[in-house]
Amino acid sequence: MSLVVFPFKNEDPEILIRNVKIALSHPRVEEVLCVGASEDRCFVALAKARPTLEKEHGKPVKVMVQERIGVLRPGKGDGMNTALQYFLQETNHRRLHFYDADIVSFSQEWISKAEEGADQGFDVVRHYFPRASTDAMITWFITRTGFALLWPKSALPWIEQPLGGELLLTRPAAKGLLEEERVRRQSDWGIDTLYTFTMVKHGCSLYETYIGVGKLHKLYGALTDLKTMLIECFAAIQSLRREEIPQLGTHRVEYPGPVSQQVREKVGYDVEGSLPLLTEGWSQEEESLLAVLPKKVRTGMQACRSFPKFGFMDEEAWYATYAALLEHFEPSSPHWHDLLFRLWLARTLNYTVNHALRGYDHALHYLHQMVGRYVNRALGR
Ligand code: LAC
Repeated sequence: MSLVVFPFKNEDPEILIRNVKIALSHPRVEEVLCVGASEDRCFVALAKARPTLEKEHGKPVKVMVQERIGVLRPGKGDGMNTALQYFLQETNHRRLHFYDADIVSFSQEWISKAEEGADQGFDVVRHYFPRASTDAMITWFITRTGFALLWPKSALPWIEQPLGGELLLTRPAAKGLLEEERVRRQSDWGIDTLYTFTMVKHGCSLYETYIGVGKLHKLYGALTDLKTMLIECFAAIQSLRREEIPQLGTHRVEYPGPVSQQVREKVGYDVEGSLPLLTEGWSQEEESLLAVLPKKVRTGMQACRSFPKFGFMDEEAWYATYAALLEHFEPSSPHWHDLLFRLWLARTLNYTVNHALRGYDHALHYLHQMVGRYVNRALGR
């Protein structure tokens, strides 16, 4: 009754094949689909393993290259939408599961827990898991912050991992997503934001299931690794800013469990390596964009030109900065890309030094409370 999909791009084929086997062994899974960004090394290895996988499990395994469906940078969005299209047009399965291809801690439990949520009647089940206090910096400062500012009454700011790539969609939920033109357009990293926004806008009932083992994946280096993702995630939110969310669907979150020492102690990014990124490579054009930002932020960022500063980018300054960015950011301008990255970096470093440094429990509590304060503020309270 269910299709499991792994979108992938240059992953370790051993890990992906292992995950495909786990999925095929699950009694609820009838078919597995792997959608590659291109015919890379991983694709070739997988295509080679396919006949054996099918024979061993007696279930179909498809391996395909993603179609060009959208209009933005061809990326994960085309991959996910290719899978939606396949699910809806080529199969009769009732449910679709998405999992990132690189999860080393993947197990049957991920599938079972999602199926249980769907058995309870939820339209969508999203997985969430503990993440380090300095991981998820786009999630907290771009996505959840943006959702709080723009749709404070909706479930959106309260979704634990709105950028998560692990989720179950029932057939009607999947159909609702693919029918939206703006979902099909979003071929880049903005796809997760578009899926999350659209499922809430459509009034889907949402269950968030907690996976205590978490998703072990590699540490980011200096934060430049995340620059493209950051820009595409912000641009996706900005493109939705005039949308309204009329109805409130059910949203239930499974209570989390204790967090492992490994996650509590993990450092999410290279702090020292990120500091010079505040000061290096300013252009005249980028500096001139500071004019639309609040004065305190403008002065702070100007000072960054000679020395890394971020003490000014507190919770309030970020709210005002975010509001200005929603208005003025230009998705096609490289100068705006550079400035958005620097502003977010200042916010991330400020949070790291003032909150993450105080320990895991303080940091996670702070981040959740921050979303609540932003919601209140957006509602004018
Ligand atoms: C996030 C990215 C960094 O969730 O994984 O913010």
